[in-house]
Amino acid sequence: MSRTFDYRGKTVFVAGGTSGINFGIAEAFAGAGARLAVASRRQDKVDAAVGRLSGHGEAVLGYALDVRDYAAVEAALADAARRLSGIDVLVSGAAGNFPAPALAMSANAFKSVIDIDLLGTFHVLRAGFAHLNKPGASVINLSAPQAYIPMPLQMHVCAAKAGVDMITRVAAMEWGRAGVRVNSIVPGPIDDTEGMKRLAPTPQARKLTQDSVPLGRFGDKRDIAGACLWLAGPEAAYVTGAVIPIDGGWSLAGVSVAGAGMFDQFAGAFR
Ligand code: NAP
Ligand code: COA
Repeated sequence: MSRTFDYRGKTVFVAGGTSGINFGIAEAFAGAGARLAVASRRQDKVDAAVGRLSGHGEAVLGYALDVRDYAAVEAALADAARRLSGIDVLVSGAAGNFPAPALAMSANAFKSVIDIDLLGTFHVLRAGFAHLNKPGASVINLSAPQAYIPMPLQMHVCAAKAGVDMITRVAAMEWGRAGVRVNSIVPGPIDDTEGMKRLAPTPQARKLTQDSVPLGRFGDKRDIAGACLWLAGPEAAYVTGAVIPIDGGWSLAGVSVAGAGMFDQFAGAFR
């Protein structure tokens, strides 16, 4: 149980919550006493996540679904809300990424990331609103530095996450009167994640990345989870429409630093 945050009696739904940063978020809320629901495509990952989260003692539900499928998203949110007394915190974190120059992406490759990250976030929020416990509910979208730092090999993710942040801002304006806050969390390079395995796959790329962080280290999943515990609760009651970097200062220097690590390791792709 978190000694700082108390989410007993609250329900948290994490789309894409079965691994990595999003599982870390789910685990932190479970540790603070919340009921949990997690969703992602692979049944084995869903089952494993439900098993681990159940160790905290509160109810945990899991759904194997693709966020690109609106009907499946809607059905899972409705079922979780019915069984867990509505939804107090809705996290949209499902995402896909692979490094590739734009000219090496098929139209379907670009579309896949747009559909998972951007359309998927719309689906989760569009279907989720009806089930939020209002007023007081909080929505958190997982964004990325690519939303505002153009990075080579990341045209799909840059476009998708910039769109996610605009969803955050527009939803915050439309839903504020209903007592629903909507914010984006922007993780920097977080260690031991699928995202970093794909973007910094070699020791050299890891070193370049780490050296470009002002705080001099990779982030930890708990760095992101801690920010979410604060952001979803009463301490952040006046925060909405915000895009909040939790990145050790990584994005401060912009593309010259953050993008350089990405560019250098794949420079051969542009010759
Ligand atoms: P991850 O472990 O691969 O997390 C992605 C999650 O989304 C998984 O649970 C995955 O499970 C699920 N997912 C993927 N496609 C889906 C789909 N179509 N429908 C439903 N679920 C889907 O990766 P991560 O690196 O921790 O990233 C988590 C979030 O943080 C992402 O939003 C990412 O953009 C953001 N982020 C990460 C970093 C980083 O350093 N890693 C930096 C900035 C932002 P299934 O395979 O079972 O579907
Ligand atoms: N370079 C270029 N194109 C690629 C690629 C790469 N490295 N990897 C996949 N693609 C293309 C595929 O060839 C396909 O295009 P095509 O139909 O024209 O051949 C398209 O992307 C979709 O691939 P597919 O594997 O069918 O999609 P999917 O929906 O099963 O998986 C991905 C989505 C591609 C994003 C996959 O990487 C994934 O599931 N990622 C989730 C985990 C993740 O990325 N975590 C990190 C989050 S930051």
